[in-house]
Amino acid sequence: MTAQLNPRGDVAVLVPAAGAGVRLGPGAPKALRLLGGEPLLVHAVRRVAAAPSVHTIVVAAPAAGVAAVRELLAPVAPVTVVPGGAERQASVAAALAAVPPGPQIVLVHDAARALTPPELFESVAAAVRSGDDAVIPVLPVVDTIKQVGAAEMVLGTVDRAALRAVQTPQGFRRSVLAAAHAAAGDPLTDDAGLVEKQGVPVRCVPGSEYALKITRPFDLALAEHLLTTGR
Ligand code: CTP
Ligand code: MG
Repeated sequence: MTAQLNPRGDVAVLVPAAGAGVRLGPGAPKALRLLGGEPLLVHAVRRVAAAPSVHTIVVAAPAAGVAAVRELLAPVAPVTVVPGGAERQASVAAALAAVPPGPQIVLVHDAARALTPPELFESVAAAVRSGDDAVIPVLPVVDTIKQVGAAEMVLGTVDRAALRAVQTPQGFRRSVLAAAHAAAGDPLTDDAGLVEKQGVPVRCVPGSEYALKITRPFDLALAEHLLTTGR
């Protein structure tokens, strides 16, 4: 059944989905690879659309696949599909430009985090709503982290207690994200990095193990397993 979005919602979600998926190995663009028989992007958009505050969803699709992605998502939820760019940052900028007037909170969410629970969109949006201009979901780092130099020689051990692994959705007051993208220089791999450069404070909130980014074949196998457990 096609999901309904909330016409009174205050949240637009941008879904960059234009990457190739090089680390996943040869095949279709990653967002279109299958997980439990459905493309990653379908899983991701279905969970975005299930979050009650969501008013608008904009997907940045591989440039050659815009029409196909529109067709693919039509039965899932009402979405706007735009061509993505060569870098993730350009894909996000293209999606941001397509957000209609209205929503004042913008979340940016990787299609590759296909199993992210709807509750995480709500908790990130709620933190922005309550006054933070930029909010990122994070997990503690579990491994010991070493800094290494030439020839893989260890230079030192980084204090793990002060480190966080960052996920999406990342949430922003709309004006703050728009200003950060307008001022953006070299491409970064996340949007919080852009607003940090603007001097905007970024708040961390608890992330979710289920928001893992499907990057390598192992992640896809793990996601397949999680899906069979009801995720
Ligand atoms: N993305 C995008 N446009 C790009 C590059 C990435 O919209 N030019 C999106 C991807 O589709 C993905 C998200 O950004 O949903 C996070 O990127 P990543 O996990 O690195 O995906 P890929 O770039 O596709 O993978 P890889 O780096 O292995 O090629
Ligand atoms: Mg990439």
